[in-house]
Amino acid sequence: MSKLKYIFMVLAGMGLPLVTQAQDASDASFYEQNQLEIVLGIAVLTVVVALVALITALYAINTILNVKNAAEAEAEGREPLGFWANFWDRFNSAVPLEEEETVMTDHAYDGIRELDNRLPPWWLYGFYFTILFGVGYLIYFHVTGAGDLSAAEYDKEMARAEEEVQAYLASQGGLIDESSVELLTADAEIAAGKEIFMANCAACHGMNGEGTVGPNLTDKYWIHGGDIKSIFKTIKYGVPAKGMIPWESQLGPSDMQKVASYIYTLEGTNPPNPKDPQGDLFEREGASTDSTEAAAEDTTEVKVVLEAGM
Ligand code: HEC
Repeated sequence: MSKLKYIFMVLAGMGLPLVTQAQDASDASFYEQNQLEIVLGIAVLTVVVALVALITALYAINTILNVKNAAEAEAEGREPLGFWANFWDRFNSAVPLEEEETVMTDHAYDGIRELDNRLPPWWLYGFYFTILFGVGYLIYFHVTGAGDLSAAEYDKEMARAEEEVQAYLASQGGLIDESSVELLTADAEIAAGKEIFMANCAACHGMNGEGTVGPNLTDKYWIHGGDIKSIFKTIKYGVPAKGMIPWESQLGPSDMQKVASYIYTLEGTNPPNPKDPQGDLFEREGASTDSTEAAAEDTTEVKVVLEAGM
């Protein structure tokens, strides 16, 4: 690539004096301003010259073939073939029917005799091409290893897809699930959680989480556990049989984390008109601390409590 560019630059450089002369020699920045156009112009010119050369060469070959063709036709006492007919004849060259005896072998089976005709040139050239292609293929894929074999290609594609999935999940906060979720403590995040709560949950859990259709979320009694991971899990999968919707499909993981964190902060807020406690007493270790350690201990605690309750 850079080599090509270099060649173009040199070509352009050769054309430069002419151009600047035409544009008044004092305008030195003309070349810089129109570099792309100049380089492209010279490239096009080069291609045109090459095409003219090619056409001339083809014409010359055609003429030579015509002469040869005419000479052959005269020797055989027939009309000379046209260009395409000549080309076609050579491409399919086979021994004519009348001369088959010259290529007949002495193999005969039940009266069927075997010819040793020459291979049609179109087939032969195709065959040569496959050999050359095979050599190139072998070198490219197996000797230099420049190309990826199917397995490597597959692995690369899978890795790329995995990256895309990770990027998508990260953009959705999707790396957060019930096993990795952590309590958020920043005021802005808790406020965002409260907003989500007001919009989606207050209808069943009360404006302050005191409970109406759904249970009271402000007391120390939890049906499904009061640590952040359990709360997140209840929100995510819901308890469809008891009227608590799975929110997985409506709230993104990061929204569920925010609202779960907000609910976590509600414990002990004693709102008016609280619904009677439901579930088991759930003691948070080092109450309302936000360290992950406490949350981890909560998890063991809830298991004990739940087992005791069963
Ligand atoms: C249609 C009413 C309804 C809505 C809306 C609702 N919930 Fe619930 N929720 C319930 C019910 C009913 C339960 C009790 C399930 C049970 O008995 O197992 C519950 C239970 C819960 C629990 C578990 C409480 C415990 O004691 O373990 C949490 C946490 C919870 N909901 C959070 C939410 C959040 C967050 C939202 C909003 C995103 C929400 N809920 C929206 C009805 C609702």
